[in-house]
Amino acid sequence: MTYGRVVAVEASPEVLDAARDHIDDEWSDPRVRVELSRVDIPADTASLRDTLGRPADLVWASAAVHHVGDQQAAVTALAGLLGPGGRLALAEGGLPEQHLPWDVGLGEPGLEGRLHAAQDRWFAQMRAALPGSRRMPYGWTEALRRAGLSPVTTCSTLRERPPPLNDVDRGMVLVNLAHRVGWLRPTGLVATADLEAWDRLLDPADEHWLGRRADLFRLSVRSVHFGVLSAVPPDPTRTSDVEPACGWTAVSSDQAGSSPPAGSALSFCCISSRLPAGSVRRSSQGAESSRPGRSASPAAPPIPSC
Ligand SMILES: C[S@@+](CC[C@H](N)C(=O)[O-])C[C@H]1O[C@@H](n2cnc3c(N)ncnc32)[C@H](O)[C@@H]1O
Repeated sequence: MTYGRVVAVEASPEVLDAARDHIDDEWSDPRVRVELSRVDIPADTASLRDTLGRPADLVWASAAVHHVGDQQAAVTALAGLLGPGGRLALAEGGLPEQHLPWDVGLGEPGLEGRLHAAQDRWFAQMRAALPGSRRMPYGWTEALRRAGLSPVTTCSTLRERPPPLNDVDRGMVLVNLAHRVGWLRPTGLVATADLEAWDRLLDPADEHWLGRRADLFRLSVRSVHFGVLSAVPPDPTRTSDVEPACGWTAVSSDQAGSSPPAGSALSFCCISSRLPAGSVRRSSQGAESSRPGRSASPAAPPIPSC
């Protein structure tokens, strides 16, 4: 019996194909049906609404909205897919992953910081070149608020792999740095002296090769901003909403392993190839389950704490 439904949407056919392969290989829970759809947000919002067929309980968009020229229009379109009590989660911002000590002994100290700064300048150029590009001179929670959601909040998770890294993490650091240096090289945003330092640091034949260092690390922060579509009309006499506690737990402990009530099939629209942390968990029976969090009372959806 199917209780839930995930509609995963993407603008790029290649990414959709990769997601389809991934789902075919990895998804085995018969209780949750996963559908894929090619959708360009916000242009195709009406057809996405038709595809959903009912308001969504959760819309999750990871690192996608910042590729849309008018980000506020995209957030407002996504919020418009929610039913009362539904939640929109935007995984955006956070802090870029860091790997290196400030002084690696080659070139000017602060090499990695300057790589992040170059990426930031590339990001500004990328955004300026998007069709219909508009600045959004405020934060993601404000965008959620302007889309009519309340309360809104942000939950950030620090992810750390301290040194010494195992072989897998060290390999990922090297691949990640090589990818970013290779991608930023033709932009002209990284100084020549820094590129020369990176080339040596990433060359296994060089005495300064990063792969030999025991002090590499992985440190990043992932932020998810989310807002709730209230089931009750806003009270104009209230001066502010109570901010919900930070956190995201898709299945509460009393729900684990149990079935949702009859008629409560969940609709989950995923503008992403990554599901929110905690949306898939192992039940007490050992089966994978995926259910967005659902409040006991549709009038006052609680957001669980971290
Ligand atoms: C940086 S990737 C993020 C991939 C993945 N969601 C993640 O979190 O790792 C941005 C993705 O958003 C998709 N995208 C960009 N603009 C879009 C739009 N207007 N509507 C739907 N998807 C879009 C891109 O095709 C790309 O796959």
